[in-house]
Amino acid sequence: MANVIVIGAQWGDEGKGKITDLLSKSADVVVRYQGGVNAGHTVVVKDQTFKLHLIPSGILYPDTECIIGCGTVIDPKVLIEELDQLEQLGVSTENLLISETAHVTMPYHRILDQASEERRGEHRIGTTGRGIGPTYADKSERTGIRMIDLMDPESLRKRLRWTVEYKNVILEKLYNQTPLDPQAVIDEYLVYADRLRPHVVDSSLRIYDAIQRKRNILFEGAQGTLLDLDHGTYPYVTSSNPVAGGACVGTGVGPTVIDRVIGVAKAYTTRVGEGPFPTELHGITGELLCDRGAEFGTTTGRRRRCGWFDAVIGRYAVRINGLDCLAITKLDVLDEMDEISICVAYEVDGERCNDFPSNARRFARCKPIYKTVPGWKQSTANCRTLEDLPRQALDYLKLLAELMEVPIAIVSLGASRDQTIIVEDPIHGPKRALLSTNPIPTH
Ligand code: GDP
Ligand code: IMO
Ligand code: MG
Repeated sequence: MANVIVIGAQWGDEGKGKITDLLSKSADVVVRYQGGVNAGHTVVVKDQTFKLHLIPSGILYPDTECIIGCGTVIDPKVLIEELDQLEQLGVSTENLLISETAHVTMPYHRILDQASEERRGEHRIGTTGRGIGPTYADKSERTGIRMIDLMDPESLRKRLRWTVEYKNVILEKLYNQTPLDPQAVIDEYLVYADRLRPHVVDSSLRIYDAIQRKRNILFEGAQGTLLDLDHGTYPYVTSSNPVAGGACVGTGVGPTVIDRVIGVAKAYTTRVGEGPFPTELHGITGELLCDRGAEFGTTTGRRRRCGWFDAVIGRYAVRINGLDCLAITKLDVLDEMDEISICVAYEVDGERCNDFPSNARRFARCKPIYKTVPGWKQSTANCRTLEDLPRQALDYLKLLAELMEVPIAIVSLGASRDQTIIVEDPIHGPKRALLSTNPIPTH
């Protein structure tokens, strides 16, 4: 039995949904620990594509219990739409549980997110506009509404009447927006409450019970390490903690419970929204990556910025998350490339820099130092073992493992479940100490 955290090792959209779905086969419980409907996790099963925003990617396994943890922020409207869509596609959502202490995204959060982005102008963050920042801000400011309040009509009425009036002052005076009608918001959210009530529980207790019964628990992160509020490229980050440490706080378990941490990284890099991105490619190669990788946001449809793999941020993700191993996704997207570059270090102010600088202004000045290797110029989509891979593709993976100083446990070569090479089973296989003696087995 193992309790495993799956995190994004870059700027999000690494393919966490696919990897979580794969690993969910061996999990009894899958828990989302942070983020809200800013996330978009795509899972492809045969000819069906599922786009999940809040519901853990384990939902497609009927016997797996799925929990939306206390560190998430829940937009009930979007969650209910997601539940309805899954049910329509024949997926049972009976096993979904929602933490009663998770915070609720309200209409004023969405409006404030969008209005403040507009006000910021050229300083905008490029948020998803889903009200994530304002919901977490209210949590910290202690004016938030939690699921437990939503479940209690009397408390909801009292709290919302006061909060909507308070937010209306900001909406009208600061942003010149139409005020909200408190009663209309209360009526709307009471309907959501009735629909979600059967799912709402004390989730930390449920997870603790599962731990006591020696169940396998998978903790699913949203976003990625470089979007972390504390450890990412601030201020161009999200408002939660996607890093592995966030899994304990966002679910209510102690760190001693965690057995392993798996980092998911694309074989190149993407980023949505604003902020520094040293390996970004602006020309034809960037476009090629975007087109071949179908790099358009799952949640907002925005075109993702694309660039080469950055091993400096990769090593940073290993350090900040204590990664045991990696899942490298979208290797197939590089199939057509004549040559592939990897950023091995930065040059900043005339000096070589091997580590991610925590000083944001310094990071914005970093220029990549590349190592360039030959491409393999053939399809990898049907490879199912390391032996099936072209030699140059295997060399590329070995180089990534060496530069990141952690072994690769999974290689993904397409969106569907079977387009995967499991190098070492990251749940049942040996832990890092054993794996790392052999970063990636050779032919
Ligand atoms: P997440 O947010 O980390 O779950 O990632 P997204 O779902 O937002 O974006 C990843 C996209 O790449 C999705 O459309 C996946 O279906 C797709 N995908 C995942 N793994 C692979 C892969 O190995 N190859 C290709 N071509 N697509 C993949
Ligand atoms: P998944 O889970 C990629 C980005 C936004 C913006 C910044 C802040 O699918 O990997 P927010 O709405 O959170 O306040 O926006 O974070 N962002 C993501 N980028 N993948 C995501 O989620 C993201 N969630 C937020 O584009 O730059
Ligand atoms: Mg995504």
